[in-house]
Amino acid sequence: MSIEVIGVVGAGTMGSGIAQMFAEKGLTTRLWDRTEELTRRGVDAIRKRLDKSVEKGTISAEAAAESLTRLHPAASLAEFADADLVIEAIFEDCAAKTALYRQLEEIVRADTLIGSNTSSLSVTDLSGTLARPERFLGLHFFNPPTRLALVEVITTAAFQAERLQEVNDLLQRCGKQPVTVKDSPGFIVNRLLLPLINEAARLVDSGVASPADIDTAMRLGTLHPAGPLQVADLIGLDICCDILQKLASSLDNPNYLPSAALTNRVAAGKLGRKSGCGFYSY
Ligand SMILES: NC(=O)c1ccc[n+]([C@@H]2O[C@H](COP(=O)([O-])OP(=O)(O)OC[C@H]3O[C@@H](n4cnc5c(N)ncnc54)[C@H](O)[C@@H]3O)[C@@H](O)[C@H]2O)c1
Repeated sequence: MSIEVIGVVGAGTMGSGIAQMFAEKGLTTRLWDRTEELTRRGVDAIRKRLDKSVEKGTISAEAAAESLTRLHPAASLAEFADADLVIEAIFEDCAAKTALYRQLEEIVRADTLIGSNTSSLSVTDLSGTLARPERFLGLHFFNPPTRLALVEVITTAAFQAERLQEVNDLLQRCGKQPVTVKDSPGFIVNRLLLPLINEAARLVDSGVASPADIDTAMRLGTLHPAGPLQVADLIGLDICCDILQKLASSLDNPNYLPSAALTNRVAAGKLGRKSGCGFYSY
């Protein structure tokens, strides 16, 4: 089956970006959030980003207008009845997500795929309450989903493996690069990136090297396009601590716990770019 109609639940940072990406790539895209106002805000954010791209000359005014005709703000979840794939991008809360899936399963077809954009919850746990867990998978997009090509496609033991091709075909059609990963803490990127950030933060506080020299070393010595501390400031040091806590508890390994170099900065309100200061000042 070819996926043609996408439903996105949650019109925040990720949901609005994912919906924009699919609408720009030619798919009929429905977007819904908890209230009409929140759904409208998501659509407004998409419109603003498209306008900016037109101003910069990266897309034509016609292409932006066409994308908007494919984007359908939904008045209720009932409008997702014709979706081939629904992507959930709501708060990172297991109970809220599973309650939503139960509601969705009452509305969508039996063969509609449901994907979660969770970055840190167990996809297996999330699938546990579904009547049809064989249609459920993790689809971890990166921020901003309109620009970053990677999508981690997370499968569980219950997932119907033959359906992976449909998902990969869709993502490739949209210019994305899917990687397949079995459900496990942090998937690939966060499992590898967060310990690196944690260790880089320790090096700063133990006076081994400056943030700029650590980042330069990793850019030029290992071909990372950005250094780990630049990336940490971009993600937000509070979010980094949160992911490390979750890795430590789900892997039952204290080595993953956030270092004092991270937790002290968070306690001092130094959260990275969003607070104007982290390892660097902005
Ligand atoms: N922000 C990132 O960089 C990033 C990257 C990858 C994955 N994620 C994951 O994506 C998901 C969304 O994150 P975000 O940063 O977009 O959050 P966000 O707070 O910007 O947006 C979440 C949206 O979900 C809506 N929402 C909450 N409960 C809902 C419900 N029951 N029904 C409908 N809408 C509901 C909220 O109103 C809000 O608009 C989370 O699972 C997060 O872990 C985030």
